[in-house]
Amino acid sequence: MLLLLKIITKTLHFIPPEMSHYLALYGLKAVYLCGFKIDLPEEIKYLSGIQFNNKLGIAAGLDKNGDFIDCLASLGVGFIELGTVTPLSQNGNKKPRLFRIRASKALVNKMGFNNKGVDHLVSKLRERKTKIPVGVSIGKNFETPNELAHKDYICCLEKIYEFADYIAINISSPNTKDLRDFEAENKLENLIKPVKERQLELTKDFGYKPLFLKISPDNDRKDVEDICRTLLKFSIDGLICSNTTVNHNHPSGSGGLSGKPLLGPSTETLRIARKFLGDEFPIIASGGVMSKEDYLQKIDSGADLVQIYTGFIYEGPKLINDILNK
Ligand SMILES: Cc1cc2nc3c(=O)[nH]c(=O)nc-3n(C[C@H](O)[C@H](O)[C@H](O)COP(=O)(O)O)c2cc1C
Repeated sequence: MLLLLKIITKTLHFIPPEMSHYLALYGLKAVYLCGFKIDLPEEIKYLSGIQFNNKLGIAAGLDKNGDFIDCLASLGVGFIELGTVTPLSQNGNKKPRLFRIRASKALVNKMGFNNKGVDHLVSKLRERKTKIPVGVSIGKNFETPNELAHKDYICCLEKIYEFADYIAINISSPNTKDLRDFEAENKLENLIKPVKERQLELTKDFGYKPLFLKISPDNDRKDVEDICRTLLKFSIDGLICSNTTVNHNHPSGSGGLSGKPLLGPSTETLRIARKFLGDEFPIIASGGVMSKEDYLQKIDSGADLVQIYTGFIYEGPKLINDILNK
């Protein structure tokens, strides 16, 4: 079956990228509904009070709306991050907004938080059957100015809190205008302080759900350390390292680069963060994992858990099998 899925994955690469992503996901759903499930060896890991059956997860953006939770879980991953979701549904940027760079096993995307809105995602979280941990990445609507952004993040937090295992605050997408400004120290404080306060209030009704912050790989050492200092100051529970990079020369001009060329910069950011934050601080790595070697490099560089996105697009479910099978 994995071989068949690999052939289908390669064939899909001849179809425009965004359409092929949807076809692949609906194809996986059909296979899942026929009873297909991959059983892989367990490697139990506890992080932030959550039990993970293994350290490999699906990164945010692949299932933005929670439409594919159970079928992705059936592939054997240890966790899935949904979203990024915003309070209101939005179309995102104009198409084409997703480009393949096949020679370097990379993607450039300028999706712009296209999603069906937080209420849709909540309905999907309620329906899910899988018991694997599910994180939800939250963001702001395109029209919301940065001064009011905290309200969007809090709106999403309140709605998904009961149903999510962890929450990821996404301030690092390059495709929502000025979002990365939040990586600056005082702006970050203004955003995460009210979100943290609301998390603590929600804890009283629904228990403690950890908050992670997802950062970009385009900060220098001092910027990464400043962000880490703010994380500690406000008792943010974990870091996701990293989103896509804007350092590329793709003819589309803008957007974020992911895949193989991102491995170096995202791992460097991970190493800086790990050194600053110490051994115990929870860190999820994301960026450029295309093989088991890349996965092990992330673990050796200080990652507690590792996510894949572009590698999954290029290699299909076989990548999960390659990484997790001993
Ligand atoms: C098409 C596409 C959409 C993405 N959407 C999101 C998103 O909504 N939220 C987010 O935090 N990251 C998003 N990402 C970034 C991924 O979660 C991941 O961090 C990044 O692609 C690096 O990992 P990779 O090299 O394994 O792809 C997106 C990436 C791609 C390629």
